[in-house]
Amino acid sequence: MFGLHYVISTENDCFNNMEKQQTPLDQLIEMRLSRRDAMRTATLAAATVFAGKVGPSVAALQDNKSPGETTLQFSEVKHTIAPDIMVAPGYSTQILLRWGDKVTGDAPEFNVKNQNATAQSKQFGYNNDFVAFLPLPRGSNNSEHGLLCVNHEYTNPELMFSGVTRDTKLDVMTIDQCKVELAAHGHSVVELKRENGVWKVVYGKWNRRITALDTELRISGPVAGHDRMKTKEDATGRTVIGMIGNCAGGVTPWGTILTGEENFQKYFGGEPSGSEAQNYARYQVGEERIEHAWFKYFDRFNVAKEPNTPNRFGWIVEFDPYNPESVAVKRTALGRFRHEGATTAIAADGRMVAYCGDDTRGEYLYRFVSRDKCHPDNRAANRDLLDHGTLYVAKFHADGHLVWLPLVFGEGALTKENRFESQADVLIETRKAADCVGATPMDRPEDAETNPFTGHVFVMLTNNDERKPEDVDGPNPRANNKHGQILELIPPVIGRRIDHAADEFRWDLFLKAGNPDKKEDGAGYHELVSQHGWLSCPDNCTFDNRGRLWIATDGAPSSSGVADGIFACDTNGPGRALTRHFFRGPVGAEICGPCFTPDSKTLFVAVQHPGERSIFADPSTRWPDFDRAMPPRPSVVAISKNDDGVIGS
Ligand code: FEO
Ligand code: CA
Ligand code: CA
Repeated sequence: MFGLHYVISTENDCFNNMEKQQTPLDQLIEMRLSRRDAMRTATLAAATVFAGKVGPSVAALQDNKSPGETTLQFSEVKHTIAPDIMVAPGYSTQILLRWGDKVTGDAPEFNVKNQNATAQSKQFGYNNDFVAFLPLPRGSNNSEHGLLCVNHEYTNPELMFSGVTRDTKLDVMTIDQCKVELAAHGHSVVELKRENGVWKVVYGKWNRRITALDTELRISGPVAGHDRMKTKEDATGRTVIGMIGNCAGGVTPWGTILTGEENFQKYFGGEPSGSEAQNYARYQVGEERIEHAWFKYFDRFNVAKEPNTPNRFGWIVEFDPYNPESVAVKRTALGRFRHEGATTAIAADGRMVAYCGDDTRGEYLYRFVSRDKCHPDNRAANRDLLDHGTLYVAKFHADGHLVWLPLVFGEGALTKENRFESQADVLIETRKAADCVGATPMDRPEDAETNPFTGHVFVMLTNNDERKPEDVDGPNPRANNKHGQILELIPPVIGRRIDHAADEFRWDLFLKAGNPDKKEDGAGYHELVSQHGWLSCPDNCTFDNRGRLWIATDGAPSSSGVADGIFACDTNGPGRALTRHFFRGPVGAEICGPCFTPDSKTLFVAVQHPGERSIFADPSTRWPDFDRAMPPRPSVVAISKNDDGVIGS
């Protein structure tokens, strides 16, 4: 999966092997590049006429096909809310890994009535979000043997334990229950094999858990060792116990995992004070309702006792799943905010680029560009690649271009006058730095993914019900935005290479989510989107090996009888932005992951927080076990076509 970005880079030796494997795609790439200039003009035009439903894009006219001729060949799932999942006819689902399932070979069987942190530290964690499939052997395109790498973002104690509710959890959670929660956060690596069409967990040497309970991580980059990172537990400012709020992520070109610490602000109790008060206010630490009782038992979550501790969370973490002994590292050069994830690409000159959203209403979209070139075939050479580089933030202009503004200490407003003393200050207070340079506030930037054929970057903006009519702009075109939109960022091309490191891109509005039959939604899709094909609140996304976009949602309007699910569409041609409903989640769940095997014959989907807003004693669903003794369990599902064909074809 992490080879597809390279197919256009023909002059770099590192990419040649991958390119040979991709030869059948070359003609398509040539076709795309030869008409790129025409498309650039066209996409800008499309942005300006994007009101209500849109017709087929100019690319469709160039393709000389009938409007609505999508490449996605499946019958749609209907919009309904139900206790179970549903996939399009002709496809099967396999429940692969549930909360509590064994990750390591020595893990005990799950016992919901007798949970403990030692067991949970060896079992699959709660609220699975990001999913990556890394083939075995490393560097191959094997689609039937690999490592599944899964984030565990947060916990719902009211669904994990009897006698706990959302209102009482801060008061009634015991230290042992909190330890289970800590152990249920983090990440799982699980070896998988597919035999006779069925996926099986292998309890081999790679299987591991990273938890918030006792896994020690390293802190690296410009902020490591800074006084603002030091605590009583860690006087060096270079190590930290645990990662929290790990939402989405990415895979580097050399096969390591990047995972984003997102809603870290919900974990800190105690009263913030002193010199960090303004910093913490900008990140809503102490402002929003605390979601976990951990601060009562662990000083590293109590700002009254450890005033610097929130500065140690909110980073991108890198670790190597192919080395079970590897230490995970917080890479501070990529900034500190509510990191949704980090999607990588290779710039025209060989440097690595990562796109990162800050998932909060009115926050920003970022891009990191490494100082040095990336060496996909020499892993050791990339060991510190993410510690040196430049973090940029996006400023969008109404005429269809966007400028990446560097966040570099000493440049522009990032000086002592604004209380920045070093690059470490710029990175610890990334949001303030972005404010100072005049970035564009966005409608909750979530996942971003690069189309492997065009190099265009698709950015999910989930929603923003706080956007005022006077603040509406091109990429954020609706006030009180309940449904979100998808942007298409278009990097320039140098020779035959897409330049992800360029200072300026163009941008296009790909779709505006919502119900196209409701005028008040102000939605915009392909005009033939069906009554079941529209979506709300795009969150995660991925591309299949034919360059089609698969979108997972979080926040569909249950009041309209709509559940979160997976939707797919073409991004070019007559089916551009003609979304189709492929998979429906169970009640209360958001849908995360989505991740294909390299052959696009298996789609892994993470079903997160099924039954949310109900409690253990009376859950709104008991998916996936439907056993009266078991609460709902967040789980990863493997979807395949019954004839073992390519999904969606
Ligand atoms: Fe954890 Fe941004 O969704
Ligand atoms: Ca997300
Ligand atoms: Ca989400």
